[in-house]
Amino acid sequence: MSSQSVTSTSSTLFLVAIFVCFSLSSSRNPNFMQKGSSLSVEDNSDLLISADNTFACGFYSVGENAYCFSIWFTNSKEKTVVWMANRDKPVNGKGSRVSLLRDGAFVLTDVDGSTTWETNTGTTDVQKAELLDNGNLVLMDSSGKILWQSFDFPTDTLLPHQPITRSKKMISRLGRGNYSAGYFNFYFDNDNVLRLMYDGPDTSTLYWPDVDNTVTQNGRTGYNNTRIAVLDDMGRFLSSDSLQFNASDLGFGIKRRLTIDYDGNLRLYSLNNGTGLWTITWEALLQPCLVRGICGRNGICISTPKLPRCSCLPGYEMTDPSNWNAGCKPRFSITCSQSQQLKFVEFQHMNFYGNDINIYSNKTLDWCKKKCKEDCQCQAFNYRLTGEVKCHLKAALFNGCKSSTVKVSTYLKLPLNIEISEYIILNDTNLTCSSRGYKVPVTGFSSTYMARGKKLRWVYLYCFASAVGVIEFIFLASGWWFLFRRHDVLVAVEEGYRALTSQFRTFSYTELKKATKSFKEELGRGASGVVFKGVLADERVIAVKKLGDAYQMEEVFRAEVSTIGKINHMNLVRMWGFCSESKHRLLVYEYVENKSLDKLLFSENFLGWKERFKVALGTAKGLAYLHHECLEWVIHCDVKPENILLDGEFEPKISDFGLSKLFQKGFNNSKFSRIRGTKGYMAPEWASNLPITAKVDVYSYGVVILELVKGIRLSNWVVEDGEDQEAELTRFVRVVKRKIQSEEATWIEDVVDTRLNGQFSRTQIAKMVEIGISCVEEDRNKRPTMDSIVQALMACEDVSRIRTPDNLSVII
Ligand SMILES: *[C@@H]1O[C@H](CO)[C@@H](O)[C@H](O)[C@H]1NC(C)=O
Ligand SMILES: *[C@@H]1O[C@H](CO)[C@@H](O)[C@H](O)[C@H]1NC(C)=O
Ligand SMILES: *[C@@H]1O[C@H](CO)[C@@H](O)[C@H](O)[C@H]1NC(C)=O
Repeated sequence: MSSQSVTSTSSTLFLVAIFVCFSLSSSRNPNFMQKGSSLSVEDNSDLLISADNTFACGFYSVGENAYCFSIWFTNSKEKTVVWMANRDKPVNGKGSRVSLLRDGAFVLTDVDGSTTWETNTGTTDVQKAELLDNGNLVLMDSSGKILWQSFDFPTDTLLPHQPITRSKKMISRLGRGNYSAGYFNFYFDNDNVLRLMYDGPDTSTLYWPDVDNTVTQNGRTGYNNTRIAVLDDMGRFLSSDSLQFNASDLGFGIKRRLTIDYDGNLRLYSLNNGTGLWTITWEALLQPCLVRGICGRNGICISTPKLPRCSCLPGYEMTDPSNWNAGCKPRFSITCSQSQQLKFVEFQHMNFYGNDINIYSNKTLDWCKKKCKEDCQCQAFNYRLTGEVKCHLKAALFNGCKSSTVKVSTYLKLPLNIEISEYIILNDTNLTCSSRGYKVPVTGFSSTYMARGKKLRWVYLYCFASAVGVIEFIFLASGWWFLFRRHDVLVAVEEGYRALTSQFRTFSYTELKKATKSFKEELGRGASGVVFKGVLADERVIAVKKLGDAYQMEEVFRAEVSTIGKINHMNLVRMWGFCSESKHRLLVYEYVENKSLDKLLFSENFLGWKERFKVALGTAKGLAYLHHECLEWVIHCDVKPENILLDGEFEPKISDFGLSKLFQKGFNNSKFSRIRGTKGYMAPEWASNLPITAKVDVYSYGVVILELVKGIRLSNWVVEDGEDQEAELTRFVRVVKRKIQSEEATWIEDVVDTRLNGQFSRTQIAKMVEIGISCVEEDRNKRPTMDSIVQALMACEDVSRIRTPDNLSVII
């Protein structure tokens, strides 16, 4: 029995050894193929590798059991495909092969033996196929003469030394992860100028260089009909139409590619050979909304600092929720009958390009309305007030763009009974918040910020910001529909950013279950979920937040979380990744050593003054970053001591930012009744119908900074005998204001936490109280911005020496 098992073990070992030897020998990939040989889809080591190992050529998986014969970079983190033979016709994962036939043809065959793709070299003297160091796959005869090359058939990418010429056209992919040909083209036009064009299912438009300018105004020339452009080894691009640009990291030895991305932008990328990630070193359009067609028919592109957003017009919804190119469809019908009552709704700073029925000059607004009303075809018109007054009647709405730089209004024709119930235009901040909510019946709202004894049902709120826009549209929806359904354009530029934030990744549920020892050690719990401590395989300590059930549709969740994952500031808790598997939605954060501020401020082991000031400043910096600086401006919506964590050095780190984004979309109405924000820290406008701006965070910050001074929860309620309930905060503010007004010399000593025992800086306290009081102003216009708070605190940061009983010489 035992001898038998020994024999079988040793024979198994023998077989394994043979197998290993074989696979080792077969993994030494050649860079060429002889006539009569082939590459098989089933063996993923069956590749051609260029001599310097930069490029590989073989079968690339583009979907379940779907493969394309491709060339890719071997050293990029994820295989970056630069060429595909059969992007629109993938072959089966079984039995497909690419062969160099005896007659010289290079042929891709599917599982059934049918030819999917072939070169036109059938009757030539081709001897071998070789993948060159520059990424060019060539077929050569015995003398080394090139008879066919992949460089002549670009897909969406141009490599150095691969010229784009008269007959060639680069076409973007369809979308993220979808390699088939999409709608954006890069090519030499008939006038010898290199252009970008959107060539979509129902319209096509040129969009680069600027179509409103002449060729010369765009710095191009149309007279040279050579039509050739090429990128060189140093990162310089030179074209016969005088277009010329350089990579920002100009120089030799860097691997580059020029790609027309599926968001329609043309970008030059450089590979970081250490990390395998790509960096954008040039791009054609700095404003993504200038890409025509990006949001489809009836869609509007809203320019935000970095990522464009697509929205549907009011009264419209996405035709295909997974694809913006399909645009939006109306939820109403215009019948063209005399009896239907129509109205126009104005949208400032919004323009639709093309599809004009007619253009009229020097007509009044009413005249244009009448004209559009009468014309059954007319869907809307643009009205320009600056310069020559013109109205453009539109038969279709394409290439919509909203940006503060647009000097045109769009008047949308709608049936009278479609309600654009409320939209409020704000002038006071440069943030745009799109809030979608339902009216909350609020009564008994006191002059502070409380609806006494009434349970408020809050709506979810999600704020995002638009570009430098001065004007904000806040669309409050009522009932069953809302105005601007906002979705991400899953833009390729995100891939660029993703490439820069390498640590952010997807975790599997099993991995997180293991890391947290089956969710054993609970760190805390809140409205959004329970947090557990864990340790990853690479020994990083993490905090895992398990979100409640069925948070989001997977796609939306992924997109939002990736945006949050890009936010990076020392005073914000870093998100390292997430897990989204079936029902599970988990967020993985860095673990912050110390406890949250509430546990260290309101307890026996209270914080010293230096630490309190550090917390006040760091928290302000983190919020200022969220409000003013990060990629996509974010409003926290729930600032409170519980969400401020302290590290080993008592540096504060704000947690839970961006979560307001996750609650938002893909929900039906019933799930909207959760509270965002915490009683006692919530700004008064939450209870009214006012739109939510970054000033809600400023309010909450004000409560926190005053709590840092006083050392108690000001968000509590107190009951004075027989009197009304009053918030501790209101009373505190009232008392402090009175003391300051009556110029009581000892007001600071009266308001500060007595536990500090005199060890504090009076200057800093005075400043913090001043800031705190202005932050909790009921009129949000009177509240300062986080930026100015940071400035004010930093101005008194150096007052680090603190009055102590034994060091009276440094009294401040
Ligand atoms: C046209 O462009 C080509 C390629 O850039 C250049 O070599 C040639 O000199 C140009 N011709 C003229 C007349 O400028
Ligand atoms: C990356 O490229 C630079 C520039 O050519 C080279 O000096 C360096 O050795 C490369 N690093 C790696 C890890 O290949
Ligand atoms: C915004 O500005 C416009 C005109 O400048 C004004 O009519 C409107 O009342 C302002 N709105 C607010 C909320 O201040």
